Amino acid sequence: MINNKMDKSAKDPVKIQTMFTTIAHRYDFLNMVLSLGIDKRWRRFAISQLPKSDNARYLDVATGTGDVALEIVRSIPGSKVNGVDFSEGMLEIGKVKVSNAGLGERIDMSFGDATALPFEENTFDGSIIAFGIRNVQDYKKGISEMGRVVKNGGRVVILEFTTVQNRIIKPFYRFYISKVLPFIGEVISGKKGAYKYLPESMLAFPSPEELKKTMEETGLKDVRYYKLTLGIAAVHVGTK
Ligand SMILES: C[S@@+](CC[C@H](N)C(=O)[O-])C[C@H]1O[C@@H](n2cnc3c(N)ncnc32)[C@H](O)[C@@H]1O
Repeated sequence: MINNKMDKSAKDPVKIQTMFTTIAHRYDFLNMVLSLGIDKRWRRFAISQLPKSDNARYLDVATGTGDVALEIVRSIPGSKVNGVDFSEGMLEIGKVKVSNAGLGERIDMSFGDATALPFEENTFDGSIIAFGIRNVQDYKKGISEMGRVVKNGGRVVILEFTTVQNRIIKPFYRFYISKVLPFIGEVISGKKGAYKYLPESMLAFPSPEELKKTMEETGLKDVRYYKLTLGIAAVHVGTK
């Protein structure tokens, strides 16, 4: 059984960077298999929470292979996105996807650490992070950075897995993420242990209420959250 507490060293930024670069070439395929495609709907819902305006500019933190950035520009006309990530391996694949989609004019993918975002204050209409905040060792700092770079009235949107609370579903969910998911992950990625971290980090991440409190502590207002698909994931939204 997996502990709800996680050794802090498991989230050592260098380890996380290396892990994502190692699995980057299989990341999109694994996502699709492991989530049965539901992750696309979750990303769309998260994006729908971003504030809209003419020529809006958004920041996609921990953009990885760029799925959120791509979906934003496809669904919000005239928008531009900066996607940042600290895994060069993930970014490389994201850059190819952006270029193949002919969206290089609207999406800029570059290196950046979530806890020290390389942007001025009040730059973006909204900042978003999908399945990234769980991996950030000092996640409060990450949220505070996402707030710093958005304009007043702008929004911070967080999409992340949560721990399922429903008593009937919980045992099946735990079995799936602690046994099935690491097994499939290892077979597809060919990397032993790479998908051991995923369930550990999912189960150790704070509850939606705790995350809401942390967002408020960073100064965000009107913080709300929406549980998605039986509470497997949640979208938190706060306003600066
Ligand atoms: C599970 S992937 C999510 C990628 C993408 N957002 C998506 O929805 O598919 C997590 C990403 O977070 C990135 N990441 C983790 N910690 C980070 C940090 N401190 N700064 C920047 N990127 C980080 C990893 O490199 C990885 O690409």
